[in-house]
Amino acid sequence: GKDGYRHFMEKELHEHPSVIGQTLQRVVDPVTREVVLPELPFALADIPRAVITACGSAYYAGYVARYWLEAEARLPVDIDVASELRYRNPPLTEGGLALLISQSGETADTLAALRGLRASGQHVMSVLNVETSTMARESDVVLGMDAGPEISVASTKAFTAQLSVLAALTIAMGRARGVMTPARQQHLMAALLDLPSEAERIFQLGEQIRAMAHIVAKARDVLYLGRGSCFPIALEGALKLKEISYIHAEAYAAGEMKHGPISLIDDTVPIVAVAPSTILFDKTLSNLQEARARGGKILAFTDETGAERLREIAEAVIVLPHVDAFVAPILYTIPVQMLAYEVALLRGTDVDQPRNLAKSVTVE
Ligand code: M6R
Repeated sequence: GKDGYRHFMEKELHEHPSVIGQTLQRVVDPVTREVVLPELPFALADIPRAVITACGSAYYAGYVARYWLEAEARLPVDIDVASELRYRNPPLTEGGLALLISQSGETADTLAALRGLRASGQHVMSVLNVETSTMARESDVVLGMDAGPEISVASTKAFTAQLSVLAALTIAMGRARGVMTPARQQHLMAALLDLPSEAERIFQLGEQIRAMAHIVAKARDVLYLGRGSCFPIALEGALKLKEISYIHAEAYAAGEMKHGPISLIDDTVPIVAVAPSTILFDKTLSNLQEARARGGKILAFTDETGAERLREIAEAVIVLPHVDAFVAPILYTIPVQMLAYEVALLRGTDVDQPRNLAKSVTVE
């Protein structure tokens, strides 16, 4: 049942910290803090490149993983939504890694992509919540997570669980390829293992997120901006808002604003910024200043350092715990999903069963 929560989505949002913790327990040795993966029928060190594919939120998890694997493991990565990848017929290197991500393991396009990738000589690794699924049976290796059943159509805890697994995989890959120092490994692992307690603190922000939701709920269109590994979190935020509140939202990599979307901005368009104080913060800030100058209302998720700079231009600033840039996309997912939930409540939609959607899309 819903354990006293109003919706499964609310319950599942509150499971983020425990699910991240349990999932990490499964892939990290508690004593050595080394990543432990299931036995692989290939060596990570021999993987020349990866192709990542998935649909919807799972695709955005993969998109974060691309930033991680490129930067931390120096692995060349291609990524596309499964509905495109399966028909693209890209040239693939024999022995490459196909990384599939799916909560259900039954999504038609992702499954079809899996079969195509296998047929073109890729090692198939799937990150799945349902380990008895069709995709699990057809994969060379399954990286499970401990998200438990996800009932709400809008994905929440499965997404942060996927990211937790993919972060661990990134560390394992970086080590196997000899490009990540033990010091870097320990640093990233410490940041990951701190996440469950940092995530717990997000729920103290409920009142502020509700206040922000009142602004978003009045809008017809909303823009989400992010950069680097938080750009996919902007995409996730926009998808979640569309999905459950039926408000039109688009996400842009903040640097793309001046290449078109800035012409949309006036004082009716809230701009949700996913902006931790990483090395890209100043760039994002100047993009937000440009939007502000056109009347856009800035609603920012940031940390204390970022807040000092954002307060003068933003209508609302929500201050999250400061975390390492590596894990910021995981932490920032939580308030961004909570915002969509609160807006949906204000709009009175059917939060757990949004119109026209199915939990698992088993037809093309
Ligand atoms: O079961 P899967 O992870 O393969 O599902 C993929 C998408 O259908 C799913 O993430 C969808 O985008 C969610 N409803 C988003 O909240």
